[in-house]
Amino acid sequence: SKSYTITLLPGDGIGPEVISVAKNALKLVASLEGFAFKFTEVPVGGAALDLTGVPLPEETLSIAKGSDAVLLGAIGGYKWDNNEKHLKPETGLLQLRAGLKVFANLRPATVLPQLVDASTLKKDVAEGVDLMVVRELTGGIYFGKPRGFGKNENGEEIGFNTEVYTTHEIDRIARVAFETARKRGGKLCSVDKANVLEASMLWRKRVTALASEYPDVELSHMYVDNAAMQLVRNPKQFDTIITNNIFGDILSDEASMITGSIGMLPSASLGESGPGLFEPIHGSAPDIAGQDKANPLATVLSAAMLLKYGLGEEKAARRIEAAVLDTLDRGYRTGDIHSAGQKLVGCKEMGEQVLKSIDSKVAIA
Ligand code: NAD
Ligand code: IPM
Ligand code: MN
Repeated sequence: SKSYTITLLPGDGIGPEVISVAKNALKLVASLEGFAFKFTEVPVGGAALDLTGVPLPEETLSIAKGSDAVLLGAIGGYKWDNNEKHLKPETGLLQLRAGLKVFANLRPATVLPQLVDASTLKKDVAEGVDLMVVRELTGGIYFGKPRGFGKNENGEEIGFNTEVYTTHEIDRIARVAFETARKRGGKLCSVDKANVLEASMLWRKRVTALASEYPDVELSHMYVDNAAMQLVRNPKQFDTIITNNIFGDILSDEASMITGSIGMLPSASLGESGPGLFEPIHGSAPDIAGQDKANPLATVLSAAMLLKYGLGEEKAARRIEAAVLDTLDRGYRTGDIHSAGQKLVGCKEMGEQVLKSIDSKVAIA
């Protein structure tokens, strides 16, 4: 029967806790759908630094590149916060994204009916929100040169970075975003800072130029400061958002809170070819790591995105999504999404309940 190789990168903090839950969910849906997984677990981030001295060992990248899909937990932690730039866990993650050439990061934010009360926004504002942030992932200020530390003309210490985008980088992410919007609600909002930044001026020019190839998609533009405000004023105005690396990082954390918790938001990072990288949008949550408090659903839903976008196993993906909804319907909540009258559980128990829902073969959409 069919077998897929999956690279598991648990990473740091709550990473191993949430990856363990997602791995079990993947195994169970595979057995129900009649295919198999071969998992290879390798270190990244702080875990890799401690074991090998670098945040992305060559072996980790080559195993990831050679697999069908990559599932990552999270990286980072206090222990490594003062490391030099090239020895930071975060540098390992950026090297991994660059190494896999996954330039398109899809970050869906959906308010589930079960979690409307977990949102900090008023019910009528949050209810029904269903948006997708398409974040450029391998360019912009995260990778631009020149960058570094130095001294200015007064001898004062400086740190500097460069926001740079080429037409090629903008065009390829714009095409992904137009295609994504076309399959969704048909509306694309490009978020930039074209009133100030040259890289954004080129961004807006290219996105506008490509729009003629997608006459069925309604394109609009918004400055990022306004977008940050509009997201909490009236998030339902958005369908698909396309934005650069750093604005996408920030706006997706903001969008996560509309849905109730950052512990709910998955992501898929895709390139032109080769394996996709799937990860929750949250970090290693050092404040709750090792306490069995993490919400594993963002990673479980990332595993569903892996099945759908990474392997084309849509039915298995829908089984996982349906199981998450069923688990929430049955009242199970981790601390971050808990409210009165529901069953407060830890990461492991939440995972067990998801397995139970998968096993019961709840009706899938
Ligand atoms: P974070 O996302 O780790 O945590 C922010 C807050 O959200 C914390 O209070 C945390 O407890 C909570 N939270 C996050 N995920 C949760 C979950 N699944 N369930 C319940 N609560 C959850 O962000 P941070 O504190 O700014 O960063 C911590 C570390 O993680 C840093 O080292 C940072 O660089 C790293 N980081 C890594 C990634 C990644 O691996 N992709 C993403 C963001 C941050
Ligand atoms: C994320 C994280 C990363 C980013 C960091 C840890 C490098 O915040 O995945 O959202 O900024 O992309
Ligand atoms: Mn982030």
